[in-house]
Amino acid sequence: MSNFTTTQTGTPVGSDANSLSAGPNGAIALHDRYLVEKLAQFNRERIPERIVHAKGGGAFGEFVVTEDVSKYTRAAVFQPGTVTETVQRFSSVAGEQGSPDTWRDVRGFALRFYTTEGNYDIVGNNTPVFFIRDGIKFPDFIHSQKRLPGSGLRDADMQWDFWTNSPESAHQVTYLMGDRGIPTSWREMPGFGSHTYQWINAAGERFWVKYHFTSNQGNHEITGAEAEKIAGADADYYRRDLYEAIAEGNFPSWDLHVQVMPYEDAKTYRFNPFDLTKVWPHADYPLIKVGTHTLNRNPENFFAQIEQVALSPANLVPGIDASPDKMLMARIFSYPDAQRYRIGANYNQIPVNAPKAPVNNYSQDGAQRHFFNSPETPVYAPNTLGGPAADAALAGEGSWESDGSLVRAAATLHSEDSDFGQAGTLYREVFDDAAKERFLETITGAVSGVQRPHIREAAIQYWTNVDATLGEKLRLNLAAGETTANEKAEFVGVAD
Ligand code: HEM
Repeated sequence: MSNFTTTQTGTPVGSDANSLSAGPNGAIALHDRYLVEKLAQFNRERIPERIVHAKGGGAFGEFVVTEDVSKYTRAAVFQPGTVTETVQRFSSVAGEQGSPDTWRDVRGFALRFYTTEGNYDIVGNNTPVFFIRDGIKFPDFIHSQKRLPGSGLRDADMQWDFWTNSPESAHQVTYLMGDRGIPTSWREMPGFGSHTYQWINAAGERFWVKYHFTSNQGNHEITGAEAEKIAGADADYYRRDLYEAIAEGNFPSWDLHVQVMPYEDAKTYRFNPFDLTKVWPHADYPLIKVGTHTLNRNPENFFAQIEQVALSPANLVPGIDASPDKMLMARIFSYPDAQRYRIGANYNQIPVNAPKAPVNNYSQDGAQRHFFNSPETPVYAPNTLGGPAADAALAGEGSWESDGSLVRAAATLHSEDSDFGQAGTLYREVFDDAAKERFLETITGAVSGVQRPHIREAAIQYWTNVDATLGEKLRLNLAAGETTANEKAEFVGVAD
């Protein structure tokens, strides 16, 4: 076989060094079809980066079910002994493609199972909760964390203005500003589905579940100062760590556990179980092990296999469904929509997205389509010609009761629901003294970036609502910081 360079249509070409020109020093020819193709192809190398979670990395692996959870779900992927191929992508949320991995941020933990019943994706984070509880706020939230329209700079004022006006964010911001905001690596952090999902067993019984992935490498974090240094020295610190570990045969793994809530408990549980700003304390619903996920294969092509992977909470399988969590429902619309735009209408035909299970439906055509049904398959349903038909047994699956009336209202509060309650518990009862110190230092640094006095005051009140002593310490720290700044300014002669 020859090893000549060819055009995209397979024709050998004459040179990769010299364009066709009118004499050695003359104008180049437009009909140098290889030059034109090469430049045109190059101009189309980029696709839009993900609107969030743009910077990331990933790998392939397998999930092995080691326990028996069949009394809770009939999903094939979670039946005893089942081994399923997977792809996983880790990411940070707010930064763009080239941003440093170690900037303080929540990390994405997104996993696809190529199951015998179609792709099942758990698209979660390294924290068990989220900033908001209604998807209608998501674009505003992300705008506030990204960049100012004029200067293109990130801005503490808009971050804190959004957070303090969205008090449901307090629990997640406490995680973010705590040690978990900067893990040592993707390998050394936990993963959570965060939302409540629905499991359905073979008898049709329904349960509410939350997913927890526990790192077998342990959880480790770096300090803000270390992270800043690394950000300057190696922007791809996490991506490199994962790639090198797997290349060396040091395969990272996570045990998957679930918390299972009986269907009826949801009505009376002390926290609204469909509010993803809340956790379910383990004392109420203990962790039940399901199996182990191991990453054991690096991508061969980052763009084709990781950049173009289209992970989505809409990818559910029989035995697993959504819950009445408004954020989750908004996400189920949002991801496939983003992926049609970012990758193209037929993005599910790309190898990394194509399911291992057969695809049978009446969709057709569209840009870049290359999968098609046999010409004998009818192009419509219903038909009497032997085309695929929907499985009536699945028609009612994934259901729950609703009161039926359409309203725009906050979800019902349960007896112990409060925006600041679980954030306060996390700060007081989970953080040890050293972690509390680091936390105070981090929020002092973050809030001291706020310029407008009323937003600064709102931030102090926000942390006072989480914990009165914490708020007091923050106020003192900020005042001391201002005094030091004024003294420094006076010293260099630029005061007032
Ligand atoms: C209503 C709220 C939300 C909306 C509208 C939303 C929307 C999006 C969109 C459009 C993407 C890009 C998808 C793509 O282009 O492939 C994305 C990525 C992602 N989101 Fe969300 N998101 C929301 C909340 C959340 C929550 C609560 C979590 C975690 C529990 C989360 C975790 C992720 C992750 C991990 C990715 C990256 C997936 C990957 O690695 O490809 N998002 N989100």
